[in-house]
Amino acid sequence: MITLSIIKADTGGFVGHSAVHPDMLAAAQEALSTAVGDHLLVDAKVASCGDDISLIMTHEHGADAEPIHSFAWDVFGQTTAIAKRLGLYGAGQDLLSDAFSGNLRGMGPGYAELEFTERPSEPIICFLADKTEPGAWNLPLYKMFADPFNTAGLVIDAKMHAGFRFEVYDLYEEKKIWFDCPADLYEMLMYIGAPARYVIHSVQSKTLDEQAAATSTQRLSLIAGKYVGKDDPVMIVRAQSGLPAVGEVLEPFAFPYSVAGCMRGSHHAPMMPVSIQQAHPARFDGPPRVTALGFQVREGKLIGPRDMFDDPSFDLARSQANEVMDYLRRHGPFEPHRLPLEDLEYTTMHQLEQRLAARWEPMAPAPLPVVR
Ligand code: 13P
Ligand code: 13P
Ligand code: MG
Ligand code: MG
Ligand code: MG
Ligand code: MG
Repeated sequence: MITLSIIKADTGGFVGHSAVHPDMLAAAQEALSTAVGDHLLVDAKVASCGDDISLIMTHEHGADAEPIHSFAWDVFGQTTAIAKRLGLYGAGQDLLSDAFSGNLRGMGPGYAELEFTERPSEPIICFLADKTEPGAWNLPLYKMFADPFNTAGLVIDAKMHAGFRFEVYDLYEEKKIWFDCPADLYEMLMYIGAPARYVIHSVQSKTLDEQAAATSTQRLSLIAGKYVGKDDPVMIVRAQSGLPAVGEVLEPFAFPYSVAGCMRGSHHAPMMPVSIQQAHPARFDGPPRVTALGFQVREGKLIGPRDMFDDPSFDLARSQANEVMDYLRRHGPFEPHRLPLEDLEYTTMHQLEQRLAARWEPMAPAPLPVVR
């Protein structure tokens, strides 16, 4: 068995929240190469989307493994030191704890991990997003694994007819449920259509009994109790041979669907699929970006990445995203551009309510009914 782990954090932005400084990426890559040399990791690549660094690693320690998580924590400590030295914005932003203990749960960095037995050919897509939240994967995962209008294989490939199982987390109450699709499709949509709270954590093939997808599901604001930036999630999807084809895995992103995030993590804006070179959100700290790094995994080695959205067939999605961004921006501080109040709970709204509490007064009582 091999485990693919993507562990990611924002340890400082260059400039503002738009990108990672090259010195930080170089330091992370050097640390990864040393860890491969020391046989902690089988293989590893560093990548970034916006101001978030992703460590893409293969190893034999399984998910939630202390040596892997503590190694990533140390790397983020090193990149934070560089960010501090250069005065980058929000140095150490996602490191919410002072010391490492056991694994990264509740400490700030996000992670998606998938353990599998390598197939003769193992195509895998690593998706990295910036300026949005983990529920942003709900819509594309639904389309990949449950919508025959997206995934022809659900109709054409006998190994996909039985469907897929979706593991959904309730991030507010810290509980989870499995939905068996297609039977539970409609029930599942009732939940995952509310992506601020219900988030798909993993997907399994019913026929192959294999895990097909894994996402990072950490919500920074729920950990910190206040606004500390957006979670900027990552996702791993395996493709082909009884799973959706690579093109079916990418197809949902041809539609720039609306996600929560963008400026101050407090706005709805379109998800823009971009090449690695274009993953630097600037306009209104957006629009939110997603990149797709394709790998063939061979004996644990990461052959790649191929920059999958560096493809003119996603130009229309990018231009639609720009149009939708213009339309939403003209709402300024009004919904539906700005998030609804319940989703702003962890921003300044709370302090504002306390400050204005004494100034609120009851409305004049309704006039008494006329008695004849
Ligand atoms: P090729 O004939 O190019 O290999 O395509 C096969 C396929 O299944 C595409 O989804
Ligand atoms: P990040 O989570 O990417 O740092 O974004 C924070 C923010 O407030 C952007 O306006
Ligand atoms: Mg940031
Ligand atoms: Mg970010
Ligand atoms: Mg963030
Ligand atoms: Mg072929």
